[in-house]
Amino acid sequence: MCGIIGVTCLPSSRNQKVAEIITNGLRSLEYRGYDSVGIAMIDASERRIIIKKSDGMLEQVAKRYDFPNTPGFTGIGHTRWATHGAPTQINAHPQVDCKQEIAVVHNGIVKNFLELKRELEAKGHIFKSETDTEVIAHMVEELSKNSDTFTAFKKTVSMLEGSYALALVSVKEPDKIFFARRESPLIIGISEGINLIASDIPAMLDHTNAFIPLSDGEIGWISPSHVHLESLSGEVVDLKKRIIYVDWKSDMVRKGGYPHFMIKEIHEQPQVLKNTYEGLMSDDILDRAADLLMRGEKLFVTAAGTSYHASLLLKLFFEKLTGKIVYPFIASEFRTVEHLADRGDIIMVVSQSGETIDTMKAMRAFRARGATAVAITNVMGSTIGREADFTIPMRAGPEIGVAATKTFLTQALVASLLSIKFSSKVGKMGKDEERGALAILGEAGRIAGESIAMTEGAAKGMAERIHTTKSLYFLGRGLGVPLAYEAALKLKEISYIHAEAYPAGESKHGPIALVERDFPVFFIVSSDSSDEIASNVAEMNARGALTVALAPEKFKEKLGAKVLFRVPEVDPMLEPYALTPPFQLLAYYTAVRRGYNPDRPRNLAKTVTVE
Ligand code: F6R
Repeated sequence: MCGIIGVTCLPSSRNQKVAEIITNGLRSLEYRGYDSVGIAMIDASERRIIIKKSDGMLEQVAKRYDFPNTPGFTGIGHTRWATHGAPTQINAHPQVDCKQEIAVVHNGIVKNFLELKRELEAKGHIFKSETDTEVIAHMVEELSKNSDTFTAFKKTVSMLEGSYALALVSVKEPDKIFFARRESPLIIGISEGINLIASDIPAMLDHTNAFIPLSDGEIGWISPSHVHLESLSGEVVDLKKRIIYVDWKSDMVRKGGYPHFMIKEIHEQPQVLKNTYEGLMSDDILDRAADLLMRGEKLFVTAAGTSYHASLLLKLFFEKLTGKIVYPFIASEFRTVEHLADRGDIIMVVSQSGETIDTMKAMRAFRARGATAVAITNVMGSTIGREADFTIPMRAGPEIGVAATKTFLTQALVASLLSIKFSSKVGKMGKDEERGALAILGEAGRIAGESIAMTEGAAKGMAERIHTTKSLYFLGRGLGVPLAYEAALKLKEISYIHAEAYPAGESKHGPIALVERDFPVFFIVSSDSSDEIASNVAEMNARGALTVALAPEKFKEKLGAKVLFRVPEVDPMLEPYALTPPFQLLAYYTAVRRGYNPDRPRNLAKTVTVE
């Protein structure tokens, strides 16, 4: 789950130093891992590679070693989420060969590295780190004794088992960066006098809007004025057919005056929901997707984490509006259900990044059995976006905060718009009804904005109250259940307070045993919660819990919760946009109150490309 970047530039083409470009790129990739960080620059005049790396976060390490002022016009950089080997300076990337004439950065896991390492040690190679990556540098060193670097690199890559996005430099060919990809994302950025390669588009947005996302098994090299790309079997790829242009702007990946990306992205929700809505309404993409769903026998939906919670919303919307059953499953558990998939079935795949390995594997397994994949993703050039049979864009813009916020609500919006279209196709909704329902959802952004304005103060106040709490619950019924799951995930992942979610009725079957005086229990009250949720509040009140309801004012009396987070009173279809911002804000302010950086939750990376 690390982030990698490589930049090669003509000396005359940029005022900025290449090492500075790499450092800035790493800044936007840091959400992919931040255990350690490093760069390698080729100092061609001295025929050497300068390596600067350490454990710790980019800002401190880059300052300590003066990353931006490192000389050279070709270099690579890495921000690490440790898999093999502790996050130490030695294990930080780039990793090098014996003579430090080859340097490599890697995202993924080389499963057979021990075998290759033994082979190389027998030939006299000395290893310094515990990483799986180091074998790549040594193997290229070994094989390039008798061949050019690209040939040696290709042979090395063909020996690797596992997953990788790789960028490698060698003093022998000082203006080239060699790269390869399998199961970990890698994208080429093309511009005048400068070419780049990185794990993600935002890292390159300052320099280009033209990209080539690589497919699995592709390998090649870039120099400042050339891109060479081929398949592992040696077929050269026609680049013109592969270029995509992305309309994201580089200021979208900056904080824009906010202290953290997470709070910026929470506040962006009104605008991005508008963009999602207008984007989807301005063409026939949802109609075409609904036509495809019509042909589906069984409908499945799969995803991980927050995207899975959005998938549970999708299930509720679909079943309510279309009467058709949707089977949701957690992507990493696909092996337990893949045998149920047949030709003619549809698998809906929800992934912000489009690169989550578990989700990708689930999609591939279902497609291999003949199912058709319909993806909902924020990154159209991503692997899932490209491999799916049909892809619907979320249009949330780049999300940098590790905790998903704006992408959750845009996924919810895509899911409800699609369910309306589908409902009309299967005759469960007339044309007028369809138009009316679509128009209601046009208000999603406005409602999210109102909800933020109404609840931000309350969220701050509640953060003050709960920041020393060890454990708490989120409960809901109906629509409130997936929202409660998402609320618990948000709070625990950035504030490190233990938070669990249950259907409110289920809380009596065990969880209530933990409840004692002042134990916080949050209720997410949707209109389909009906009257029963009030009984659950009463049960918790009777045990002295601090009961907090996220609900419109009209439910206040009926619920009897000790605290009310007043949210806008809206049409049931708009409830996710009213009920979600308060728990996102609560998670954010609680993390900040506890002294944690919500953009950098420990042990987490935004895009999970390892199993
Ligand atoms: C939580 C979070 C993760 C992701 C999950 C799936 O805040 O961001 O749980 O939702 O890793 O990622 P995508 O949607 O990129 O497949």
